[in-house]
Amino acid sequence: METKTEDAGPSSGRHGSYDVIVIGGGPIGQAAAYELSLRQAKTLVLEQFTFGNQLGSSAGVSRQFRIPYPQEYMVKLVKQAIPFWDQLQERTPVPLRDKVGTLWFGDPNVHSTEGNIGEAEKAMQAENVPYTTLTAQDLEREYGFRNLPSTYTGLFQADGASIDLKATIRTLLDWNRASSYVTLRDEAPVIHIDWRDGAFHVRTPLGTFAAAKLVLAPGPFADSVFHLLRFQVAATYWNMASAYYRKTRPDVQYPTWFVFQEAVGDNGNQFYGFPEVSWDHPGTIRVASDFVMQPLTSPAQRTLVPNPKELAYTAAWVRDHMTGLDPVPHFTSTCLVALSQIPNKELIVDFAPDHVPHHQDIVIYATGWAGKFVPLLGRILSDLALDGRTPFDISHFQVGHHYFRRLRTAEEHG
Ligand code: BEZ
Repeated sequence: METKTEDAGPSSGRHGSYDVIVIGGGPIGQAAAYELSLRQAKTLVLEQFTFGNQLGSSAGVSRQFRIPYPQEYMVKLVKQAIPFWDQLQERTPVPLRDKVGTLWFGDPNVHSTEGNIGEAEKAMQAENVPYTTLTAQDLEREYGFRNLPSTYTGLFQADGASIDLKATIRTLLDWNRASSYVTLRDEAPVIHIDWRDGAFHVRTPLGTFAAAKLVLAPGPFADSVFHLLRFQVAATYWNMASAYYRKTRPDVQYPTWFVFQEAVGDNGNQFYGFPEVSWDHPGTIRVASDFVMQPLTSPAQRTLVPNPKELAYTAAWVRDHMTGLDPVPHFTSTCLVALSQIPNKELIVDFAPDHVPHHQDIVIYATGWAGKFVPLLGRILSDLALDGRTPFDISHFQVGHHYFRRLRTAEEHG
């Protein structure tokens, strides 16, 4: 097939039509384009589906902003994200974060994918983050939970918030649409990438586009882009199920919360929830399971149908331990997330591995729960693309070339 490289006109980047092509038009790709526009870098965003689609990790409309993490460096990073949220907030009158606080509670001995209550306390103390500690009685009296084992403990951290993810994406998209530095193309899956004549050439069904630098932020579809550059990342995929429960008492309200509990058989037994928010099924409260009964090995295996057993375990927990809710799920949704299989690497923020030609000009974000980091990750990815470095500590998210799987070329296969 003959393809034509787009002529971007007189303001073209030095090495091709664009300074940077961002592959992946979800919140992180949009945040990267936003930051690149502030640096006046001519940027193209390519999205395989439509902008705002519900097929990836940004499905649904709310996320948790929380400071408790078991690692000091994560506590520090999430604190560093706050001024970037405040800056983005200046671009819209719609509140992006509803500051209802974070409530972490449960069995103090449990270590889950989110960490452990005591470890989070230590990390917050080291970073001078204020929080209050709670007994099981406090949790029942002050927060509306019930029938909690008396051994449960908790902490409340007041800076936690429910993120209006839809408004966050809209704010970024509106900015990028209006920016003379950003071009947005959706329904543009990338089918080929090569480097020639001093630039990356990125082929899509809409044409071939050229740029000096690439930012790859394709969410759970990372490998379908990475394989074009002959590497893969070790990930597992969770199709997470959520449900909305109708309020039976108008006065009932919860903060954002997470409960740490031992798994019981195939019930992972970790749940999290949100307050009622004006932007998401008013009159209901969202509660979800933070486990899947069947992790996937590829995003292609996911369906948009939530696992009924995961929903049933969540509904049973709502029935047994929450007040003021009808424990029948009224609406359900799913969200697909890629989780790193590399120990202690929740997020991957790095350059492409060494074997990829011009790897220092290819910046990658992949895996993990990153909603709370959206504006900060935008800055970090733009720093890496334009400056080759960032003042933020990303050492914990850099995997090193040996962790990426190298895919052999047809010639190497012989
Ligand atoms: C998070 O804050 O990262 C998170 C919260 C609930 C479930 C999964 C992740």
